[in-house]
Amino acid sequence: MRYACEPSVVIKPFGQTKDGQRVQQYTLTGAGGVVMDVIDYGGKVVRLFTPDRNGVKADVTLGFNDVAGYEIHDPYFGSLIGRYGNRIANGKFVLDGKTYVLPVNNEPGGKPCSLHGGTKGFDAYVWNGEPLSDGKSVGVQFKMRSPDGDQGYPGNLDVIVRYWLTPENVWRIEYEAVTDKATPVNLTQHVYFNFKGEAEGAILDHELTISADRMTPGNVGLITVGKRIPVKGTPFDFTVPWQIGARIEADDEQLRFGGGYDHNWVLNNQDGRLAPAAALYEKSTGRFMEVWTTEPGLQFYCGNFLTDKVPGKRGKNLAYRGGLALETQHYPDSPNQPDFPSAILRPGAVYKSVTEYRFSVK
Ligand code: GAL
Repeated sequence: MRYACEPSVVIKPFGQTKDGQRVQQYTLTGAGGVVMDVIDYGGKVVRLFTPDRNGVKADVTLGFNDVAGYEIHDPYFGSLIGRYGNRIANGKFVLDGKTYVLPVNNEPGGKPCSLHGGTKGFDAYVWNGEPLSDGKSVGVQFKMRSPDGDQGYPGNLDVIVRYWLTPENVWRIEYEAVTDKATPVNLTQHVYFNFKGEAEGAILDHELTISADRMTPGNVGLITVGKRIPVKGTPFDFTVPWQIGARIEADDEQLRFGGGYDHNWVLNNQDGRLAPAAALYEKSTGRFMEVWTTEPGLQFYCGNFLTDKVPGKRGKNLAYRGGLALETQHYPDSPNQPDFPSAILRPGAVYKSVTEYRFSVK
């Protein structure tokens, strides 16, 4: 079989963090033509080029040209998220009878929580990067140790994350972790997509499908109330494709709490197999993507906290709702919700999670 491109990984310096750590960039060119620039600072995807239906490539993800951009603004653009993706109510949980206190770094609706791992989550670590290749696919492996007590979490957690780009234009993410004390773990990727291109306006015209008959409603602080409710007949029903903007202004309490979509869906597949979770389509460019995951949940966040004050990578300002994230995950606040699938990793067990973003055109 002939491929569109010679697969390669090219490494070059990207700059340094404000505390002087050097940051490297890995450019992955997949045999199918997708190209991504990834940095070892937070495992961030800085740029992601995919072809449209005419074969013209554009950068379809939000990010910044330098480390300072990421240090100044904090929307988790393109980042690996850990130790716990999403919110933990009041920044507290009890595990095996002991109370653990986490940094409170977020307070939507006046309700304090610990968001995306705390004040210094995995998105702000410089990881140990290594290029990967198996002859067909190329990638990068990131490794790091989050020490016992890091951001209040128990146990030394050794984490490996691999990004692969396959000849079929699949970006595959493999997460693994082991610990020496029981701890919550919920790793995800916070890439924001805009299939018209970065800084090309809002994503309200994208069509989204989510393979989920239920979602977990939140309170005014976007913290789950521990329930799973049917989406049928609500603006949260994406079991068939819907334009994101079509129902976003509906008179609905959950949409008011989120300022739009910012919720966790209970995926129909709950058995840990790699299965379809979502699909995204933008009709003017033909860009189409399927999301597959082994995780039981998906946070769909449509960029309600983004503003038009922040410059993107090509000098143009980003837009309110200028990108959307589809974060595969365990449910929010699981450490405080005994009825939710457990997000606790114990010594001797291996945390494993796989997510694939499969790019194509229609
Ligand atoms: C999302 C979360 C949003 C917001 C965003 C970061 O994962 O659901 O509420 O906090 O991260 O700005």
